[in-house]
Amino acid sequence: MTGPGLTSHNAPRIECVLGDITHEVTDAIVNAANSTLLGGGGVDGAIHRAAGPALLAACREVRRLQYPDGLPVGQAVATTAGRLACRWVIHTVGPNWRWGQTDPALLASCFRRSLQVAQEVGAASVAFPAISAGVYGWSAAAVAKVAAEVALGERTGWAGIKSVRFVLFSQQVFEAFQRAFA
Ligand code: APR
Repeated sequence: MTGPGLTSHNAPRIECVLGDITHEVTDAIVNAANSTLLGGGGVDGAIHRAAGPALLAACREVRRLQYPDGLPVGQAVATTAGRLACRWVIHTVGPNWRWGQTDPALLASCFRRSLQVAQEVGAASVAFPAISAGVYGWSAAAVAKVAAEVALGERTGWAGIKSVRFVLFSQQVFEAFQRAFA
């Protein structure tokens, strides 16, 4: 099932699909991680389970070499993808509504930095989950709005990226994204 395929000259094709991001064959998939980068539940847990122990090892190295105090909210970092079909996992830390992190700019930074990191590593296709729309308590509509503002509002800035897919795990979130990207 696919959502609206949006293209314009030199800008990435943008799609919203219902599915499991661990099945994506894009060059990179984005993980809605937490600052520890040591795994968790939700999509973080699913990605680590599918990728295997090499992903956790790569995350430990990122913590040791780049982010000893943890990955800040809104930041993003790429690692190998272990047994996953994709080449990179781009870990980002979404804002947690329950902790009072309700500023949309924090969430926009997750999408923007993840796309910038994808460009930096040379990924031509990227798949995103609905960052912060699960455990971190943001509404699907609010997340979809921010995602659309970054993906559509800045789309000429993503040279080199040919495809951006939002992979939604429930019909309700999928429909929220379809509305935001309509
Ligand atoms: N594929 C795609 N999307 C998924 C998958 C999957 N396999 N599993 C869950 N999701 C969806 C959820 O349904 C939700 O819509 O990802 C979205 C984000 O939810 P979470 O995974 O809970 O992420 P988030 O809300 O950003 O909370 C992050 O949860 O899992 C922990 O370690 C993680 O502490 C961090 C926190």
